[in-house]
Amino acid sequence: MGIYFNEQDKVFHLQSNNVSYILTILKNNQLGHIYFGKKIGASEHLADAIRLAALPLTACVFEGDSLFSLDYLPQEYPSYGKTDFRHPAYQIQVEEGNTITNLMYVSHTIAKGKPTLSGLPATYVEHDDESTTLEITMRDPHLDLYVKLSYTVFEQLDVIARNARFENKGKQTLQLLRALSMSLDFQESDFELLHLSGAWARERHVKTRPLVQGIQSIESTRGASSACQNPFIALKRPNADEFQGEVYGFSLVYSGNFLAEVEVNHYDMARVSLGINPFDFRWVLPPDDSFQTPEVVMVYSDRGLNGLSQIYHTLYRTRLARGAWRDRERPVLINNWEATYFNFNEQKILSLARAAQELGIELFVLDDGWFGQRDDDHTSLGDWVVDSRKLPHGLKHLAEEINQLGLQFGLWFEPEMICKESNLYRQHPDWLLHVPQRQLSPGRNQFVLDYSRQDVREAIYGMLENILQSAPIAYVKWDMNRNMTEIGSAMLPAAQQKEVAHRYILGLYELLERLTGRFPKVLFESCASGGGRFDPGMLYYMPQTWTSDDTDAIERLKIQYGTSMVYPLSSMGAHVSAVPNHQTARLTPIKTRGEVAFFGVFGYELDLEKLPSSDKEAIKAQVAFYKEQRQLILNGTLYRLVSPFEKNYACWLVVSADQRQALLGYYKILAMPNPKFMAVKLSGLAPNFQYKIEGTEQVYNGNELMYLGFPLPFAGEREGDFFSQVWKFRAE
Ligand code: DGJ
Repeated sequence: MGIYFNEQDKVFHLQSNNVSYILTILKNNQLGHIYFGKKIGASEHLADAIRLAALPLTACVFEGDSLFSLDYLPQEYPSYGKTDFRHPAYQIQVEEGNTITNLMYVSHTIAKGKPTLSGLPATYVEHDDESTTLEITMRDPHLDLYVKLSYTVFEQLDVIARNARFENKGKQTLQLLRALSMSLDFQESDFELLHLSGAWARERHVKTRPLVQGIQSIESTRGASSACQNPFIALKRPNADEFQGEVYGFSLVYSGNFLAEVEVNHYDMARVSLGINPFDFRWVLPPDDSFQTPEVVMVYSDRGLNGLSQIYHTLYRTRLARGAWRDRERPVLINNWEATYFNFNEQKILSLARAAQELGIELFVLDDGWFGQRDDDHTSLGDWVVDSRKLPHGLKHLAEEINQLGLQFGLWFEPEMICKESNLYRQHPDWLLHVPQRQLSPGRNQFVLDYSRQDVREAIYGMLENILQSAPIAYVKWDMNRNMTEIGSAMLPAAQQKEVAHRYILGLYELLERLTGRFPKVLFESCASGGGRFDPGMLYYMPQTWTSDDTDAIERLKIQYGTSMVYPLSSMGAHVSAVPNHQTARLTPIKTRGEVAFFGVFGYELDLEKLPSSDKEAIKAQVAFYKEQRQLILNGTLYRLVSPFEKNYACWLVVSADQRQALLGYYKILAMPNPKFMAVKLSGLAPNFQYKIEGTEQVYNGNELMYLGFPLPFAGEREGDFFSQVWKFRAE
């Protein structure tokens, strides 16, 4: 296992426990792609997989050789303009104005471990023997441009991470028009494209469509990865499902504009490309400078979508998320947003905290409205100083009072934004993203600070540091509530204005690295109007994300199901809120709301003082239950059993690593008159263990639960709509 190079055939074979990824140096010294899929052994014939033929109407690379054309050859990091007519991995405009380049193999290194990516989040190893990295150096001799293609194999996890780095060692200033992180050509296209799409309050719904000849893509142009599209695609065989069949995943560790594209050409070959969106992007690369692309994490599984997701979950939970909270049980929190919105004072906050303490809640989060003069969303973003009208004794006093009650204290910020109605704007009207002579487009009455500027970042960092060191703040919710428009910076020359969106993200990452390093004990949760930036880039800095502003239990079934395609339960903030639900006006039982939110990082977001005592009793029991189960929920293996996108009910299951414990959730959406009998087949249990259901005398064999199935309640009109049940199985 590891990475092997066959000198004679010029073949690189990357091997993990169950997967092979094979590439080669082609006759023209570019890189050809041979294979990605289920592991195959060492062989003399691998290079033969690249077949040559004189195909009609192709342009050929060499005169007198009608066989060798990039028009149909599977490649690794292709360019446009030299016989390949598909979309390329990169495109560079040279000073003469043309975009023709020719990257040729120069050398390679194979080494244990995984280098970090300068300025960008990425997966990592804790010990060098967890992975092996191949770095291939390519060079365009005319430009003296070097491109380093890096491939890291996590042998035990069946993961391959890729990135590309451009180094200009020539004399020309180059313009990167397109610099994707990866490209990969399959010899065929018998796949469906799966992506996670949606909108605010209905993020990451699972969408699937067959590949057809032509280009199919998803992208973000919003300056954030976005609620509309997630930087992830999968290719699945048409017959693959949650449990079996081949699936390939491609996940970009990036939080800004991205493109994920599959192009099927005239020979039905599928090209997968992923990286920073080339739309509205151009990067000036002067001599002696370099450009690093973000990382793409590629996963292959022949165990269906559950198999694919489980690999991402383990990797992102243990080798992308970082810090003191990565492996720790997360506190059950209560957030005051839906309880009070902007309308609160110290007394109200303290009485909410008191009520929370009585129910066993561990962390109180003070949301928007504590700073400046913010009584609604028109003012004060940028003025990170406490509003003494609402909190006359200051944050320290409030936090200490809450600590006295036995709860930790957490605070909301939206540090990337500015309101015109703020001192910060009055002092620095040019600190926001803007374009001269053009009117600014407001979003939620706010504008985006220019994080590409170091002075802006410095000032915001100073304010945040002040607040965080002024009081015992154990948790930060980092929010971001609008997308970018008029993307321009006062600090950059005209030629570099198309760099701003990416420079912004680099600036954000720099600030987050500094702040999380300065406050290593603080638990950070990322948020962007809910799940508008739920991506691996943010997870590197903050181990949990507010999954969606939509807390309706039934809507959450789809949102959490879709999110779990890539992201672990330990990253998904999931709260119980009041009914009628503030997003859908739906009425669901408190039991169902709790049992949906259990499968994530659990909390509440409602006015406890307005609840009937029966709800309070239910909450007390839920909090106690979650505390007992959270080790299992946050670290166990998730199995999606029944999809709410396909059925009138949903089921999911978490199994502990030793298979001795499991938690099953069943959610019926609409009640059915005269219902039929139903059972669900569990997964991942030990066939010969005897599992007892907690709170009952019922005992089942593991094999019985998995092959015969577990009988679901006969849920008809008696229970009504939105019925749910959670069962805890424990091996005797
Ligand atoms: C959007 C977030 O998603 C909400 O949870 C809340 O924090 C509001 N912003 C506050 O303005």
